Amino acid sequence: MNKVTILGSLNVDTILRVKRFPKPGETLPLSGKSVAGGGKGANQAIAAARAGAHTTFIGKVGQDQEGDFMVKQLTDSGVAAQFVQHSSEANTGSAVIMLDSSSENRILIDGGTNQLVTAADVDLAQTVIAASDFLIAQFETPIAATMRGFELAHAANQRTILNPAPATHDVPAKLLSLTDLIVPNETETETLTGVPVTDEHSMIKAAAVFQQLGVANVIITVGSKGAFWQRGQAHGFVPAYKVNAVDTTAAGDTFIGALSSVLRPDFSNLAAAVRFANRASSLAVQKLGAQPSIPTRAAILAAERA
Ligand code: RIB
Ligand code: NA
Repeated sequence: MNKVTILGSLNVDTILRVKRFPKPGETLPLSGKSVAGGGKGANQAIAAARAGAHTTFIGKVGQDQEGDFMVKQLTDSGVAAQFVQHSSEANTGSAVIMLDSSSENRILIDGGTNQLVTAADVDLAQTVIAASDFLIAQFETPIAATMRGFELAHAANQRTILNPAPATHDVPAKLLSLTDLIVPNETETETLTGVPVTDEHSMIKAAAVFQQLGVANVIITVGSKGAFWQRGQAHGFVPAYKVNAVDTTAAGDTFIGALSSVLRPDFSNLAAAVRFANRASSLAVQKLGAQPSIPTRAAILAAERA
């Protein structure tokens, strides 16, 4: 089993279900409201742990009930949380997720303590990072902290995975040069490479741009269509499983966490790992809420056999 360390965000998600999104100035009733654990980092950690990885989380919550709730979500799934700091300087991060009847979502984020994660916080976890097959990070925590984590991982000859989400233009070239595998969606791919993702040809082009920037391995996720992978000169497309999606929140996070649990650190089984990750995210989209929908290894394997 892989050892995986995730550096990233924790958010309490409030999910507002609506038949359709309100227009500007319009007022509409909710068809449902619920609260669940979320945040890209925490979702990925829970996905990795449930898929069987030995998982450690690095992040920051507030000294509030929401912070305790988020730490409990991690530990209940077997994620080691000793490097989750509790800060009095801000509230635990939160998100409001509007979900319409076609399962499209719109998300607003209050970053809170996620924005206070520092390189010094990451240094505290140096020993664990050095002993991890993969260090994974996203863009909901400060890039300076991620940079330090990736430096520590590489200094110990371990591999790094970057999920450049949410999309941003301001990615230092140095961070990409420290990234061994990048996992963007279509939007993030276009933002970072300037190549609009329309078909497999455009994904090959975008992957070549990432490789020129120093990232040897690329996975571009394209929602219900599936995922494209590139490793050196080799590439392929793995179609997604056809399911009825009720909530796609955390589908990408589930993909990355599950992937990291089975991926060999030399990336030699990239295509097979993408298939396993596709299976995991196909299960996550069939349930409401981010963390409540993330499948266990047993559920993923049962779906493989069905
Ligand atoms: O990727 C999904 C996550 O993005 C949600 O759980 C929400 O908290 C936001 O961080
Ligand atoms: Na879901």
